[in-house]
Amino acid sequence: MNVFRKKPLAISHDTDASKLSKTLGALDLTALGVGAIIGTGIFVMTGVAAAEHAGPALVLSFIIAGLACALSALCYSEFASSIPVSGSAYAYSYVAFGELLAWVLGWDLVLEYGVAAAAVASGWSGYFQGLLDGFDIHLPTILSGAYNADEGTLVNLPAIFIILLITLLLTRGVKETARFNEAMVLIKLAVVLLFIITGIFFVKPTNWTPFMPFGFHGIMNGAATVFFAYIGFDALSTAAEEVKRPQRDLPIGIISSLAICTILYIAVSLVLTGIVPYQSLNVSDPVSFALRFVGQDMIAGFISIGAIAGMTTVLLVMLFGQTRLLFAISRDGLLPKSLSVVSPKTQTPVRSTWMVGGIIALLTGFIPLDRLANLTSIGTLFAFLVVSLGVIVLRKTQPHLKRGFTVPWVPVIPLLSAAACAYLMINLGYETWIGFFVWLIAGLFIYSLYGYHNSRLNQERSRRS
Ligand code: ALA
Repeated sequence: MNVFRKKPLAISHDTDASKLSKTLGALDLTALGVGAIIGTGIFVMTGVAAAEHAGPALVLSFIIAGLACALSALCYSEFASSIPVSGSAYAYSYVAFGELLAWVLGWDLVLEYGVAAAAVASGWSGYFQGLLDGFDIHLPTILSGAYNADEGTLVNLPAIFIILLITLLLTRGVKETARFNEAMVLIKLAVVLLFIITGIFFVKPTNWTPFMPFGFHGIMNGAATVFFAYIGFDALSTAAEEVKRPQRDLPIGIISSLAICTILYIAVSLVLTGIVPYQSLNVSDPVSFALRFVGQDMIAGFISIGAIAGMTTVLLVMLFGQTRLLFAISRDGLLPKSLSVVSPKTQTPVRSTWMVGGIIALLTGFIPLDRLANLTSIGTLFAFLVVSLGVIVLRKTQPHLKRGFTVPWVPVIPLLSAAACAYLMINLGYETWIGFFVWLIAGLFIYSLYGYHNSRLNQERSRRS
């Protein structure tokens, strides 16, 4: 069995039925990146991270998680600029490590994007219902949340609604999607800035003491929790085949979107813990809550609207990434071919988009997903770790490959990046590890039953022999 067969770099995917249109530039990518990054992490999870893990030292958690992401972003940029094909870390590993690890990573990313989208849709639904409450419109309890016998809820209708709406948008075409995204990103950035500028006047430095109530350990747990807030820049590289000049534009998009978000997160976490005592932050809408806490109800309302816009764009990019990933995996034969058929009219993979949207709608509608953010994080950290090591491997195995962007100080930076990811993974709880292993084992079954035999590399080899 040759499960380590590697994909040659020059393999052609230019058949008409599986060709995506090249329309995105560096600015589109930066907006897509910011769109994917700022969402549930900053608007929802900062509360728990401050109250239960880091205290006012939340800012240090954000800096540590941001540094780990910056190292990984450099590694992603090198890969994206040298292997600009759909499928992100999955595609890179196929070239660097061979089919088995590529499948493991692809399957891992299906978890990342799918679970993240379902979790973010639940968060979206919470903020949306909060906004409706403000207008005195209330959904019947049974339709307001995933199944919970104690609370009388059965299905989360708003979460299903937003997933299906975004699925529809994605099937309309990539340029349309990017335009919608840019408008939402502007709103999101505006409310984050509004929070910082308003909040700064209400900061009481006494709220920052004690600064590290849970010690160093708490800061690291906090970093592993808020890592979720940074997830998304990696999804950019799934769009590689739709970028006009991928070797130049992908590194710009990845690095600049991460830099913008890191600066904003540092400012938000300082202001947040400066205006509210950290013990009170364990609420589902900490950013709006903080402004209500200091009597700024109207601005808090605007922040809620921005948070809804913010989470919408995260959903958009996660669903986009998911369909492009399935597109790439199916094109390689590891999943059924029907997932990589592109509609001639819109040049998007309509069938797989609806399939993904449907499954995620079911997940978000019926399963309570509040604890799944950590599962998303562990999956993502694993992908970052493999991509970081992949840079070192590819430098050795493909030294002459044309690279639009190169990581400095190889192997030091990729090794630091891998170590940082491994360390954050260790800081996620054992339940998260169990969930992660169950998912990976299911993936290995699917590979042995389907992917191994149907793999395009396998079929080509059989044809030759
Ligand atoms: N970074 C994304 C968010 O915070 C996943 O919602």
